[in-house]
This record gives sequence, C-alpha cells and structure tokens, in this order.
Amino acid sequence: MARHLITSAIPYINGIKHLGNLVGSQLPADLFARYLRGRGHEVLFLCATDEHGTPAELAAAKAGKPVADYCAEMHDVQAKIADGFGLSFDHFGRSSSAQNRKLTQAFAGRLHDQGLIREVTEEQVYSVTDGRFLPDRYIEGTCPNCGFEDARGDQCDNCTKQLDPTDLINPRSTISGATDLEVRTTKHLYLEQSKLKGQLADWIDSKGDWPILTTSIAKKWLTDGDGLQDRGITRDLDWGIPVKDGDKDWPGMEGKVFYVWFDAPIEYIACAQEWVDAGKGSDWESWWRTDKGAADVRYTQFMGKDNVPFHTLSFPATIMGADDNWKLVDYIKSFNYLNYDGGQFSTSRGRGVFMDQALEILPADYWRWWLLSHAPESSDAEFTWDTFTQDVNKDLSDVLGNFVSRITKFCRSKFGDAVPTGGTEGPAEAALIEELTRRLKAYEGHMDAIEVRKAAAELRAIWVAGNEYLQATAPWTTFKTDPEQAACQVRMGLNLIRLYAILSAPFIPDAAKTMLAAVRSDDADWPTDIAAALHALPAGHAFDVPENLFRKITEAERDDWAERFAGVRT
Ligand code: 2FM
Ligand code: ZN
Repeated sequence: MARHLITSAIPYINGIKHLGNLVGSQLPADLFARYLRGRGHEVLFLCATDEHGTPAELAAAKAGKPVADYCAEMHDVQAKIADGFGLSFDHFGRSSSAQNRKLTQAFAGRLHDQGLIREVTEEQVYSVTDGRFLPDRYIEGTCPNCGFEDARGDQCDNCTKQLDPTDLINPRSTISGATDLEVRTTKHLYLEQSKLKGQLADWIDSKGDWPILTTSIAKKWLTDGDGLQDRGITRDLDWGIPVKDGDKDWPGMEGKVFYVWFDAPIEYIACAQEWVDAGKGSDWESWWRTDKGAADVRYTQFMGKDNVPFHTLSFPATIMGADDNWKLVDYIKSFNYLNYDGGQFSTSRGRGVFMDQALEILPADYWRWWLLSHAPESSDAEFTWDTFTQDVNKDLSDVLGNFVSRITKFCRSKFGDAVPTGGTEGPAEAALIEELTRRLKAYEGHMDAIEVRKAAAELRAIWVAGNEYLQATAPWTTFKTDPEQAACQVRMGLNLIRLYAILSAPFIPDAAKTMLAAVRSDDADWPTDIAAALHALPAGHAFDVPENLFRKITEAERDDWAERFAGVRT
C-alpha cells in the first residue's frame, strides 16, 4: 500500500465554475483519488477555494457584500456543488483560512532569511476615485499602436501588442470608469526566483515521465519566457494575507497583502492542516514534510494548462527556496481546454454549462462520464450537445444500463431473485475471462499513468465485452432448450454487474453504488483475478432489479439545452 497526496488546482471563489474548469482539474483528480482508494492505497485528496485577489473583491462589491461574507457564502456554494458532482475531497479548504495566513507569512519569513527576497520601489497607476492602486487589467484605454479604444493595461486585444498601463492614451479605471488616474510610487517584495533557475531547470529535466504538455510549458518559461524573472509577491490591496515576516511586522509593508498566486499554492499545505483541525485526520506533516514521513508519499497535482507555470516554477521556487523539508510535487497532470460548441466557455458571457446548471438537468454521472471520456489531454476538446447526447445514450444507456437491466430482469423472470445454480462453463466463459483479464491490466495501466481518455475507452470496452458475451450466448434462447446452461450464463452476467460496479466506480460512482446494491455486495475489493471476481456471487445469492441506471436524453432535450446555454446567463 502506497501513500498518495493528490491536489486539484483550487478554483477562484468568484462565481461558479463551468464544465471546462471541472474537467481540467477537480474531476480527473477525483477519478485518480477514487481509483487509488479502490485499489487499497492511502489517499489524501485536497482542494480549496482560492479566495484572495482583486476579482474576489470586485465580485463581492458587485454582490453588495463584505468580501469575507461573500467568500464564506461562495465557499459553501462551491462545496455543495462539488459534493453534487461526487468530488471526494478529504477536505475542501479555504485559502483565507487562519492556517494559510500563518503558513504564508512563515514562508515569506523563511524566504527572507534565506536571502531570497528583496524590496523594490516601483511606479504604479493609482485611481483617486477608487482610492486604490489598479492592477494592469483593471485599466483600459486607447492603444498607442493601433488606436483600439478598449485596450487593456497589459495587452491590446486588437493588435496583441503587450502594453504597460502607462502606454495607454486616455486611460480609465474599469472598476469605476474614473479617469483621474495618476502614477504613484509604491514598495513591494520580490521573490528572487531567478537565483533558483538552475535548480529548477535540473528538477524539470529530471521529470522525463511528466506529460509533455506540462514539461513543454515549464521549459518554455524557463528558457525563452520572462517566467523566471524575480516576481512581486505583494500587492496594494485590502483583501488578502497581510504581509509579515514570519510573525513579525515587515517595516514599510504595512497595509499590503501577499499576491494571491503566492498564497494560493501554499493553501495546498494549509489545507492538510485544516483537515486535521477539522477533526478529519491526524498528522498533516506526514503528508507534507519529508523529515516527517512525506518522503514516501507520492504527490500528484492536477490543473489546466494556464496554471502550469505557477506549479512547475513559482510554487516549486517557494518550496525549494525555503529549503526546509517541504515536499515537492512528484507528478503534474495538466489539461488543455474544453471548448463549448464551436467557441469558448465564457464565464462573463454565461456561455456554456456551469456546474450548478449541469446538475439541475442531469445527474452527476452523466457529466462525469462524458467529460472524463473526452478529457482534453493531448489537445483541446469540444463539448457539443450532439456528441454529448449520442455518447451518453450509447455508452451509459445502451451499453452499460441495458446490460444491467437485461440480465437482472431476465434472471428474475426465469429463475427468481437469486443467483441461479447449474450449468457448466465452456469456451465462451473462458474467452470472456481471458479478454477481461487482458483489459483489466490495460485499464489499470492507463489509470496508473493518468491517461484518462484511454482508461475510459478501456472501461467502455470492458462493458462491451459483457454485452457481446450476452449477445453470443443468448441465455434467453438457451433457456428454451437448456435452462441449466442459461443459468450458468446468467450467473456470469450477475457477476459481471458486480465487477462493473467496482471498475466503474472511479468514473460513475453513483451508478456503481446502485449496481453494487443491486447485487447486494458489500465486498467491493478491486479484483486481482478476473476468474475469481466473476465467481464472487455464488448460486443462491439474492439480488434486486435496480431502477434504470441511465435514461436516454431525448432530441427535444438536446435542442432545448443547446438553446438555453448558448449565451448570457440569467
Ligand atoms: O486558475 C485558477 O482557478 C486558480 N485559482 C488556481 C490556483 S491553483 C493553486 F495555486 F492553488
Ligand atoms: Zn492595439
């Protein structure tokens, strides 16, 4: 038994995430966590809400609420939705927790002691009306290059030129529209991660088994990007973790907070403390400190590609720079984007399906299956209502659901509510066992390697194999001439339901539970031997006919949903 620490990128607090966000981190992380638990490993699976930064402040202001209240409410909303999707976090924490505040300040202090922090005085745009410094993307104006009137302070969307806010003609605050902007000087802390460049490069180079998506982004930033310039880790904001040097004040840094991207990944560690403090576990250090047992932990992170630079370079720089036995990540699984029906999901325009809406129209397993079986691994993927409807109807309803209902109903009508006795296994059963043995190995291989699409394809093939067995042996025909033999086939079928429940649980946990309950099995250990697993339910073992596992999505629903989610959220 191994020990696995798993974290999903922590979603921003402002607003409910869309399905593209879900499939890019939380959902595959959950798949992996469930799989490893299923195989008997010890797993600590953590996620949290990312609560600091300007977007949280602005969203709270828009909602007319104090930011702390807004975050508390939105945390509960996100936690409920995560639960609705069956995301099996051991703890769903908050980056605004007291634990994270203390730990973030401690990290800053430690990095300071290590000589990796310098103070920089810089000029920044201040909005007199808003009473605050404005981050670059909250300043808009006319592009000096192409004349586009809505160019952002960091880049012009029209001509793509990278800009400095002071380049803009007629700059204005996007928060209030105010134009009384001025340049003021302010002091910030910079983490000198450039000093760690060699160490980081060696570390990335040693990760030959990481997904190419992960290493290619990391290497690009290391070699030709600005990624390893020293970076500002403080901001002039009210909402955030106050800047401190460990538990001491930091002279000159009064009223400033740490940059959200400095404290967010530290929440991965603080979350383990929150897990312990919530009474759900003990000894968080054995998961996070290599001098306290975490050297034996395998740590896997899940995230969308936009998060990769922060997890391959910035956060590791924090960990390495602190040089204090904190655990570094062992494997980073990253994802491309899921697009929506010929365009992008858009939170601002309400384009696409958001997590709460998804659960309003269909149970979680439908979404879990489709999203995971189309995970954007090697390239961006696309959600369309057509493929969603087709795939769900075929895989879940025609293949898996139909199998379960056919076999249980047939058995009940001919043999009663218990696994029937009689008959002898022959070549068809041997071939099935041989095929499933092979496929189980492949399935495990893909799951171990976190090849999500391949694992889904293999699981589907495992379901199909059962259907083909049933099709070929046709117990309903056999029954007419040889009821004993039909009993043997049905027995195999009922055992297949149990096997499918166990193997499918990481993808579709609710349906798996229903299947397991139907065959009244509470021993759901991962199979080590297919032949044994297919004889786990003995003759005479009672079962129930479950409700339809999956219903079909109708064409009318498909068309209705396509229209409803096309844009502008209401
Ligand atoms: O992209 C995002 O949604 C960020 N909130 C992810 C943060 S992950 C980490 F650093 F904690
Ligand atoms: Zn321009």
